[in-house]
Amino acid sequence: MRSCAASWNARERRGAILAAGCPTGAGTLSSAARPNTVIEIDGLSKRYAREVFALHDVTMRVGRGEFAFLTGPSGAGKTTLLRILLRQEVPTAGRVLVDGRDLAALGPADVQRYRRTLGFVFQDFKLIPRKTVFENVIFALRILGVPDVQQRRRTFQVLKWVGLQHRANAFPLELSGGEQQRVAIARALVNEPVLVLADEPTGNLDPDLALEIMNLFREMNAGGTTVLVATHDRELIHHVGRRTIALDHGSVTESA
Ligand SMILES: Nc1ncnc2c1ncn2[C@@H]1O[C@H](COP(=O)(O)OP(=O)(O)OP(=O)(O)O)[C@@H](O)[C@H]1O
Ligand SMILES: [Mg+2]
Repeated sequence: MRSCAASWNARERRGAILAAGCPTGAGTLSSAARPNTVIEIDGLSKRYAREVFALHDVTMRVGRGEFAFLTGPSGAGKTTLLRILLRQEVPTAGRVLVDGRDLAALGPADVQRYRRTLGFVFQDFKLIPRKTVFENVIFALRILGVPDVQQRRRTFQVLKWVGLQHRANAFPLELSGGEQQRVAIARALVNEPVLVLADEPTGNLDPDLALEIMNLFREMNAGGTTVLVATHDRELIHHVGRRTIALDHGSVTESA
């Protein structure tokens, strides 16, 4: 496998995003935003019901090009935090900036465009069963209106990177769990997102496959992509040896 994350032409990608009318680096660039910080969270709280505080006064930063784990026991608030970063949930209090954009200022049309600047990997892969591997990955570029030839080239490039170019015409259910997660990672990276978020991406995989998948995240990060991975797997975190942000009962308890 070879890292392609750094080798893509950033100008091409930017052109594609602009062609789709996306506000790259625009949105609401706060005067307080730090250019070397991709995630800036201040005083974030999320209350679901009157007494259920999923997050409580969370303040944290993730730098550009950083790889961080978000960890903590079940119910600690990891998924809630990722859902807020994806703008699937709205905070009860606090401020969240991603790549300088204040998520509270995004209107409904901006939210779709914003999400297209991110990559996301789920525990259960979430591939479209009736589409082939190739179609699952290229789909992310079709939405952006990237020219056809570039779409195909990038899709093959990223499938090669995850070692699955020979399965491009297979359907997801014809693949093993580890292979399906590799397709999901290819899909998350195909548009060179500014930030890749993953929620328990190895939760359905055995320990050897989990390490293989983590190596893909590491390689992606070596290509310059900022990565935040939620997992409660302490052994895996120890093995990968990256920064850890720990949550417990909705509060940050460790930010090494
Ligand atoms: N949609 C919801 N409505 C009400 N409460 C919720 C909702 N989603 C999460 N919660 C509550 O918020 C808290 C944090 O949940 P969250 O899913 O963020 O935890 P988590 O750290 O991802 O846990 P796990 O490791 O089990 O995935 C929990 O107490 C949970 O019950
Ligand atoms: Mg969760």
